[in-house]
Amino acid sequence: MTDMNVIGKPVNRIDGRDKVTGTAIYTADHGADHGLTGVLHAAIVHAQIAKGRIRSIDVARAETAPGVVRIFHHGRAPALRVPEANWNLFSGSKVAENFAPLQGRDVHYHGQIIAIVLAETIEQARFGARLVAVDYEREAHVHDPVDSAGVPLPTSVQPHGFYGEEAQSVRGDPAAAYAAAAHTHEAVYTTPIEHHNAMELHATTASWNGGELTLYEGSQWVNGVQSAVAQALDISPDSIRVVSRYIGGAFGGKGLPKMHASLVAAIAREVRRPVKLMMSREGCYIASGLRPKTIQTLRVAANDDGTLVSIQHDTINPTSEVDTFVEVCGYPGRYLYGCENHGVSHTVTPVNIANPVPMRAPGEGPGTYALESALDELAHKMELDPVELRVRNVSDTDLHVGLPYSANNLTDCHRIGAEAFGWSRRNADPGRTRDEQGWHVGYGVASSAYPVFQAPAHVQVAFLDDGTLEVRCAAHDIGTGTYTVFAQIAAERSGLPMSKIRVLLGDTALPRSPAAVGALTVCSSAPAIESAIDKAASELAEIAVASEGSALSGSDAAAVRFVEGRLSDAESGVGEAFEDVLRRADRDRVSANSEFAPGAYWTTHSMKTFGAQFAEVRIDPDTHEIRVARMTGVFDFGRVLNEKTARSQLRGGMVFGIGMALLEHSAYDHETGRMLGPNLAEYLVPSNADVPEIDIVMLDRPDTVVNGIGAKGVGEIGNTGAAAAIANAVFNATGKRIRDLPITIDKLLA
Ligand code: MOS
Repeated sequence: MTDMNVIGKPVNRIDGRDKVTGTAIYTADHGADHGLTGVLHAAIVHAQIAKGRIRSIDVARAETAPGVVRIFHHGRAPALRVPEANWNLFSGSKVAENFAPLQGRDVHYHGQIIAIVLAETIEQARFGARLVAVDYEREAHVHDPVDSAGVPLPTSVQPHGFYGEEAQSVRGDPAAAYAAAAHTHEAVYTTPIEHHNAMELHATTASWNGGELTLYEGSQWVNGVQSAVAQALDISPDSIRVVSRYIGGAFGGKGLPKMHASLVAAIAREVRRPVKLMMSREGCYIASGLRPKTIQTLRVAANDDGTLVSIQHDTINPTSEVDTFVEVCGYPGRYLYGCENHGVSHTVTPVNIANPVPMRAPGEGPGTYALESALDELAHKMELDPVELRVRNVSDTDLHVGLPYSANNLTDCHRIGAEAFGWSRRNADPGRTRDEQGWHVGYGVASSAYPVFQAPAHVQVAFLDDGTLEVRCAAHDIGTGTYTVFAQIAAERSGLPMSKIRVLLGDTALPRSPAAVGALTVCSSAPAIESAIDKAASELAEIAVASEGSALSGSDAAAVRFVEGRLSDAESGVGEAFEDVLRRADRDRVSANSEFAPGAYWTTHSMKTFGAQFAEVRIDPDTHEIRVARMTGVFDFGRVLNEKTARSQLRGGMVFGIGMALLEHSAYDHETGRMLGPNLAEYLVPSNADVPEIDIVMLDRPDTVVNGIGAKGVGEIGNTGAAAAIANAVFNATGKRIRDLPITIDKLLA
């Protein structure tokens, strides 16, 4: 295993406690127990048709049900504006669905929010919601972006890019290179609609105090929610505080602000009581975003020596009628290999579903499934080892942008992974290997890749007279370990022990931070934490010297070392504690602010993270039951700040990949446009019994182009390549290539 570069001890810290205590307050916990009295509970009435109009809503029975206080629908609802779409992850806001609920009669998808029932208890609200009778005027709906023959439906949507990148791209001449190549492969790969399945349900609690709104919202983007609600309600963002201190799972599903938060805020203002909405599990499936289905056509070609000479990656995904979401499956192929001729297209077709939103490794997740499956098929046709095909095409230059990578250790990921996994034992002849019980055995490999994202981030730190160092910013811990890692960074920089660091996150009352998406939190905020500590320590040094009546000469850096020395000495019981310095100077704190902004290195380097995943599957020859027997993942994402939390992120991503490959599928009834089985009993996610031993290797090579700390992101990459490695292993085990996820028994039998 690698020599981990761990700052301090990995510990689980919750408000300064070192253990799991159950005291973390999640959004839906805010109520009478935590100082909010008179809370009304909201329940949603979801549309029961996939397209059409509401003819009438009869609330007579619901209104007289026990505990029901008010019912809102399109005929009587507060006005809401649709916020402007601004994808700037620091200063902007982009709602998950460009549509304001309860503003009209039109229904665009089954599950759309069409009424809200308020009652004294959640049970009364949900019972009342069931009594609301809606008369619809039904219209024909569309569910799939292709017809029954697989022909794409006409679409007039011009897909915008994602992350500021163009949706369509071409370099070289992919078609000509394909036609001239020695080895080619073309196939269509599909992935179904999937859902995020966070354990914590979507929830909003809105509480007004005069014109001031406090909104507790499970969100990966508190500043984005603040901006969205301000626009929706036409009030100043300064009068809105959004709090999201803990998140029980998000995976992108809580990334873009939800319009239901604005609706709850507006309703609370109207009824003059706090209002809490906790969505039902079904509501989370049918009215809060999804990963869209993808239909991906791959054309890949190579020369005899294994040089990739052409990749054409064409993706179709459905979007909703009310907004455009592009699942950018073609993006990873642009930078993963040095292929001179490369084309990407994305076609987006509106259908009657809730609007798709980012889901863990958006684009790269399903995109690497198709790309890395196609390369496996090409390698098989060429009789070339699939690891070799990949390492022969690793480049020092990102041909998409024409810039050198800050670091590209993809070759090492494959070599180290192959060794650790025992890849040399693989039988290249598919369907030939059995285990001692007679089960088919297969090995598969795939590359992992995810971009580096960075955004501006503000941080304030304060050395306090109680001997603690406080780190304050509106960044988020979405279950990823941000509290722990920020405390480690602060401990290392200040020389203080972890027990003296307090991290405050997830609150717009704190310095502005970007959305916790795209694995950007640590690599954006860490530099600001460090420089804020340096500034405050300098001031502390000056105060120490001034109050001792001597002069400190030299640079700020020297002052920092001076204070660091003092702090470390204080810890060892030798020197003077900084709180004594504060006391002597009659100060209760020394604080400093710092603002990180991505620099000019973004114009000189391409920054990515890479990895290689290996999977072994066992398949019952009679029942075709598929078990993932083990997985190995090797990842390079710069410096490892916390071995435990990083490993947990990677393992979680790989488990997501097991789900994508073998289990997950949001099924819809095409007649009615309803999702079938919108619950955790019928939507299959991997359970412990589905998850084998997962071996994770982190290269831990600091990338100091990205930032001084050398750390990139680790939140998304584990999901990339995982499904392909498993699908490729299924082929190696059986000789059957299933190009439609999830790979289920019926498809293997067909
Ligand atoms: Mo991630 S899907 O960008 O939260």
